[in-house]
Amino acid sequence: MEVSYHDPFALTEAMANVMTGGHAICPGRFLAKSAILLACALMVENFDMEILTGDIEMSYAKFGLGTLRPKNPIPFKLRRRSKQEH
Ligand code: HEM
Repeated sequence: MEVSYHDPFALTEAMANVMTGGHAICPGRFLAKSAILLACALMVENFDMEILTGDIEMSYAKFGLGTLRPKNPIPFKLRRRSKQEH
């Protein structure tokens, strides 16, 4: 699926998999999208993240049932940015 970040509904469409698309489609999906984007923006603005492995393998065990998970835990380091780094 191609996702355009200029289209305000695009991410919601990408999320439709996990919120279904039938008559009971999640009415909270727009709020959820805003909350997720806000959380991501705050993380990117305030923290540096370093992935400590080059070996990330995804699990396809639940393919089609939402988002894919990594097969193994992914070690990472989070460092809060100082005010000067903003
Ligand atoms: C990432 C966040 C969320 C996920 C993954 C999610 C997922 C889902 C899923 C899978 C359903 C069932 C759809 C179906 O039966 O076809 C659902 C229904 C529902 N969701 Fe969400 N949801 C999220 C956030 C929210 C939020 C923030 C709200 C409210 C503020 C909300 C309110 C509801 C309600 C009321 C229903 C029942 C709809 C109905 O039966 O007509 N959800 N959601």
